[in-house]
Amino acid sequence: MRATAKQSLLQSVHTVRNPASGTVFSEYTFFRKGTGEIIMCGIIGFTGTANAVPKMLKGLSVLEYRGYDSVGIAAQTEGGVDVVKCKGRIHVLEEKLREEPLPESHCAIGHTRWATHGGPSDVNAHPHRAGRVVLVHNGIIENYQELAEELRGSGVTFLSQTDTEVAAALINACYDRLGDPAAAIRQATDRMRGAYAFGILFDNRPGEVWVIRRGSPLILAKGKDGFYLASDMTALLPFTNQYCAMEEGRIACLTAASAMLLDDAGGSAAAEWKTTAMTPESAQKGGYPHFMLKEIHEQPGAVEKSVSSRIVGGLPDFSADGITPDFWKSVKNIQIVACGSAMHAGLVGARVLEEMAGVPTTVHIASEYRYYPPLFSDGTLVVVISQSGETADTLAALRYAKSRGIPTLAIVNAVETTIPREADRRIYTYAGPEIAVATTKGYCTQVSVLWMIAAAIAYTCGRIPEEQARATVDALAKEVPQAIEDMLAKREQFVRIAKGLVDHEHVFYIGRGLDYAMSMEASLKLKEISYIHCEAYAAGELKHGTISLIEPGTPVLAIATDPGLVDKTESNIREVRSRGAQVTMICREGTQVPEESADEIVFLPNRSEAAVLFASLTAVQMIAYETAARLGCDIDRPRNLAKSVTVE
Ligand code: M6R
Repeated sequence: MRATAKQSLLQSVHTVRNPASGTVFSEYTFFRKGTGEIIMCGIIGFTGTANAVPKMLKGLSVLEYRGYDSVGIAAQTEGGVDVVKCKGRIHVLEEKLREEPLPESHCAIGHTRWATHGGPSDVNAHPHRAGRVVLVHNGIIENYQELAEELRGSGVTFLSQTDTEVAAALINACYDRLGDPAAAIRQATDRMRGAYAFGILFDNRPGEVWVIRRGSPLILAKGKDGFYLASDMTALLPFTNQYCAMEEGRIACLTAASAMLLDDAGGSAAAEWKTTAMTPESAQKGGYPHFMLKEIHEQPGAVEKSVSSRIVGGLPDFSADGITPDFWKSVKNIQIVACGSAMHAGLVGARVLEEMAGVPTTVHIASEYRYYPPLFSDGTLVVVISQSGETADTLAALRYAKSRGIPTLAIVNAVETTIPREADRRIYTYAGPEIAVATTKGYCTQVSVLWMIAAAIAYTCGRIPEEQARATVDALAKEVPQAIEDMLAKREQFVRIAKGLVDHEHVFYIGRGLDYAMSMEASLKLKEISYIHCEAYAAGELKHGTISLIEPGTPVLAIATDPGLVDKTESNIREVRSRGAQVTMICREGTQVPEESADEIVFLPNRSEAAVLFASLTAVQMIAYETAARLGCDIDRPRNLAKSVTVE
């Protein structure tokens, strides 16, 4: 390591910018008109024998990752339904409730919002009230203007700019006419276009919470003291581990005594409960300052679990996922479709699938997939990848492939979500709940599963010998977790590198081959949580234009782990060095790096290709994390983002 002399200098010259998190959050405004490009929000509800309000607050604090610009609760009390809501995060609502406490309530709903129709404000916050109806909504009603016009014609006035208030008014109008909650909900939602999950109270029906979902996630749960609804099971883990996934279009009625599912024909059936393996601890920070840091540290265990569960007798085996060797043999080419980091995982997977398994593989951005329809042929398999299992673009791509009769396979982390339900086959990653908006262990386990699939196809189709298949899966199950652990021990170095980035507006990651794919993930991670602009470039492409952006001091992080390509990447490093770039090199232990090539070198354990790749992943995740931490950014909830993006 020859760059040591410069490290202390770098450490001493950098000052840390003012923390921005609070300010950034309170200043941001975004108003998406018409159909929102992105929508999130978290909803929750409870009815039973315990006080519902503390449960709402606790659950909403977990759901905040889904959106966090305003928050509210509606609680049934003796006088009807009380609503308390405000712009801001949970602590603002808690403050408000301290000043004006709600009476004890045994039936309530709550909401945390990611604004789409109407900016973040008290009045646009949920729950929304219309006549007898009070509701919370996750989703988007695309034809809300047309419905609002019609309702205005019959004398309805609206207080907010939201589509949700229109939905409440429509359900109320139907309820006035029909007098029956299920019939009113069915009639009203039949007129709505878009996506929704509703939790609904009727002020003359004490103790009842009504529920319906179409296109937006929602689960029911059963506790010792009553029944719950939530966008996500993690919000309910403090109370119960018994859940029931809601089918599309199904209405449910929760009371203190039961959870009934109603069908269109007027029939009803009691919900059937499953037990989740998640624990309350899995949705808590466990002593880490941020979920992101905790989740990075969980990667060794998550990879080990995702891989080992698919090893039988030392060889790759997906029979427990319902996938037979004959199925792998039928695959002649693969199209991977995903968004963001999941798409980046696909880029790594594609290279391994082509190199090891010899299967031609293309990678597609899900939001573009249908507009530039790919060519299908005999033996095409469409693989969709999604941590959340709810990403709208990915779901639309999946549906497109299915509509063309193409076999589909989903690689998903969140169980009982829409994508794995609709795909022909599914392989779950075992990352556990991922709370931080920036994915880390989600991506990590996606890559490990793709690598296992490549090994399974390669072995099954006789493209690699048995020893190589054994060595590959063994490396994934053992060396990879160890390599990640080894990198986590280098935190001081990542802090030092981060200090070298915080004062810059532009940063570059460069790499060749798999290192280029990793550069793309590295760049996304850095920019989404630190708000520093970062570009990933194929190292050899820089000189075709982008190098004009390199100035004295511009940080360039070069990932050069491939022994066959390191010399070429070093040439590209020299090109930027000679223009004054501040270079950090990420390479294998033992790589001979000329002294003048880099200010800082991150050495990765020199083991298998997989171990090196995951080590480089850990390095770039930690660099992003430490940079954002030094800038005081809201690491787990970066501005303008949401965890699952459930509208196209
Ligand atoms: O839930 P999904 O894996 O389908 O999400 C895809 C992307 O939205 C996601 O990876 C996004 O890019 C993350 N914010 C990256 O950290």
